[in-house]
Amino acid sequence: MNIIFLGPPGAGKGTQAQKICDALNIPQISTGDILRRAIKEGTETGLRAKSYIDAGKLVPDEVIIDIVKERLAMADCANGYILDGFPRTVPQAEALDTFATIDSVIELDVADQVLVDRLSGRRVCLKCGATYHLSMLNGETKCAKCGEELIQRNDDKAETVLSRLEVYHAQTAPLTGYYEGKGLLHKIDGAQGLENTYAAIMKELGAQA
Ligand code: AP5
Ligand code: MG
Repeated sequence: MNIIFLGPPGAGKGTQAQKICDALNIPQISTGDILRRAIKEGTETGLRAKSYIDAGKLVPDEVIIDIVKERLAMADCANGYILDGFPRTVPQAEALDTFATIDSVIELDVADQVLVDRLSGRRVCLKCGATYHLSMLNGETKCAKCGEELIQRNDDKAETVLSRLEVYHAQTAPLTGYYEGKGLLHKIDGAQGLENTYAAIMKELGAQA
């Protein structure tokens, strides 16, 4: 099953995609994680993307589309995948239609104030992509999955979060209409607890939670 997760920054796309990919045994393709890894490794793409990410803006479509096209051509995507953070603009969605067939689009719906609270307390593992919230770490500073030191993302600073939310509403929110028009959109309340949100997505996908 080829699935897209849509939703604003902090909606829980990464958190839920990781759980659902584990359950369905399909890869999670997070464009944010791919770009952050590229920045950490100092690649040409990373150098190009860094200033956009740090400012809370989207990296140019032509940069990200080729990355996703190449990633989806890899063997592990043959039985399905979750796209987490792509597409984010109508041109990205139109490009995706030329090299992939999407079965379902899950939109996680969460109010802006809740998002700001979530992002200010988020800690992430750059090595394996695991995501935590300070409220669940009890002072722990290392990743429970791989032992790497957890960090706060540069773009989780308050002022950058606000610009990411603006960018989401202006450039990404129109995608809900795009996928609604194709009959693929499923809207889920992402403000429920982690487990309830997970169960709601699995039910929508027709899988056992
Ligand atoms: P990206 O990394 O994709 O960031 P984002 O879309 O802003 O989304 P987030 O990762 O911030 O949020 P999330 O929905 O994954 O929430 P999470 O699960 O972590 O992109 C970063 C940047 O890269 C972009 O700004 C852009 O510059 C660039 N980029 C990436 N893709 C691009 C593209 N296609 N085109 C152009 N540019 C692109 O959860 C957040 C927090 O909430 C965590 O602490 C979590 O523990 C907590 N939480 C989650 N669910 C719940 C719940 N149900 N209850 C309580 N807490 C919860
Ligand atoms: Mg994420």
